[in-house]
Amino acid sequence: MTDAKKLYIRTYGCQMNVYDSERMAEAMGAAGYRQTDSPEDADMILLNTCHIREKAAEKVYSELGRFKPLREANPDLKIGVAGCVAQAEGEEIMSRQPMVDLVVGPQSYHRLPQMEARVRDGKKALDTDFPVEDKFDTLRNRPKARRGPTAFLTVQEGCDKFCAFCVVPYTRGAEVSRPATRVLEEARDLVERGVREITLLGQNVNAYHGEGPEGGDWSLARLIWALNDIDGLERIRFTTSHPNDMTDDLIAAHGQCEKLMPYLHLPVQSGSDRILKRMNRKHTAESYLRLIERIRAARPDILISGDFIVGFPEETEADFRATLDLIEEVNYGYAFSFKYSERPGTPAAERAQVDEDAKAERLQRLQSLITRQQRAVQDSMVGHNVKVLFEKSGRQPGQMVGKSEYLHAVHVSDSSLAPGELASVEITESGPNSLGGRLARMPAA
Ligand code: SAH
Ligand code: SF4
Ligand code: F3S
Repeated sequence: MTDAKKLYIRTYGCQMNVYDSERMAEAMGAAGYRQTDSPEDADMILLNTCHIREKAAEKVYSELGRFKPLREANPDLKIGVAGCVAQAEGEEIMSRQPMVDLVVGPQSYHRLPQMEARVRDGKKALDTDFPVEDKFDTLRNRPKARRGPTAFLTVQEGCDKFCAFCVVPYTRGAEVSRPATRVLEEARDLVERGVREITLLGQNVNAYHGEGPEGGDWSLARLIWALNDIDGLERIRFTTSHPNDMTDDLIAAHGQCEKLMPYLHLPVQSGSDRILKRMNRKHTAESYLRLIERIRAARPDILISGDFIVGFPEETEADFRATLDLIEEVNYGYAFSFKYSERPGTPAAERAQVDEDAKAERLQRLQSLITRQQRAVQDSMVGHNVKVLFEKSGRQPGQMVGKSEYLHAVHVSDSSLAPGELASVEITESGPNSLGGRLARMPAA
């Protein structure tokens, strides 16, 4: 395979794009490409893009600009744009940046090998269809390469919720769930290749309703229970969930399913009912808080994380304070927060905008509150034992880094540890972004 062509992929955006990039590399592997870490070596560069906020989308064009010298030095270098910007902007990308040879949307990347052949012939290739064939199915014959201890597995795609600020329903299309049998098959394959923790992915993963092995629909909880039976799989996570799809069986699974980790990402976006209504979220601050109560009743130590948008159109200081109040009440272990960004084609982009200074000021206040909560939750781990799944070497010699059940990064200096190992760690220190500790003596079985 010395003459394999080389593919460089850069991934932006959410975990679903990380999963998709792996699948694109596999599809291109079948077309004789091997992945490289340096764009300078590549015969093809693919940017797997994100359209969620203006900055994310603009980054694509500045990145493309930076590849210009590479293209000038090597006219055979092919450049492609994949993902959500590809879906949203399609042909426009090629007119704005003529150097781009190929544009492929997130639902058509199984057709990459044919598209590659076309661009090798000096033509342009564009595919932003939502095809009827299952892109996952055509990617089943992948190589049995060894994997690291953790993996993503997409089980659901698209979104029917149409929050007024969000492009996902347009870039990823309608909600679709993969059949349970396919998911279980893929999970078993991952475990055979060394994976011990699987994170199930979906834009609305808890709305999963895939076909069950004997017909009928399976809920996400049912799927998680089936995964729980796979020997060798130690941990199950899922993301991202919508509050309105948090069903009773899923809440109960958090209390009962031993491999399901005590971490839940449950975005609320705002704590003001007036804004939630304008966002088309279809829940209130109160219903969210009651939901968190029920989840914590099922699993008291669960760590909750969330997403917030500040400066949504018409948000007042009083609305923003309601968000801070909600955050105080929930006590988040982690959160992502963003200034509202106008997205073309979404309803909220047409409304009266909050000025940038107010957005920046609110973001700063929100983030300092969240950081305080996050640090307090982290600090409370000191002196306790947590189970850590080790993933890779740390920065210092002999150091290994892994994740606790609560998704905190934990580093331990102990040369006896290897990636994939699950060990009990006594937490001795809490830093800005991670915990440190030493191996705890395992209790006798
Ligand atoms: N499906 C997931 C979120 C997908 S997008 C969910 O419903 O939670 C991830 C996050 O990006 C969102 O939760 C939201 O906080 C943020 N986001 C989406 N559109 C945005 C916009 N126009 N401006 C700012 N943040 C946005
Ligand atoms: Fe976007 Fe709302 Fe769908 Fe999440 S639920 S992907 S925020 S439209
Ligand atoms: Fe971005 Fe598309 Fe994910 S817009 S957040 S890459 S679904």
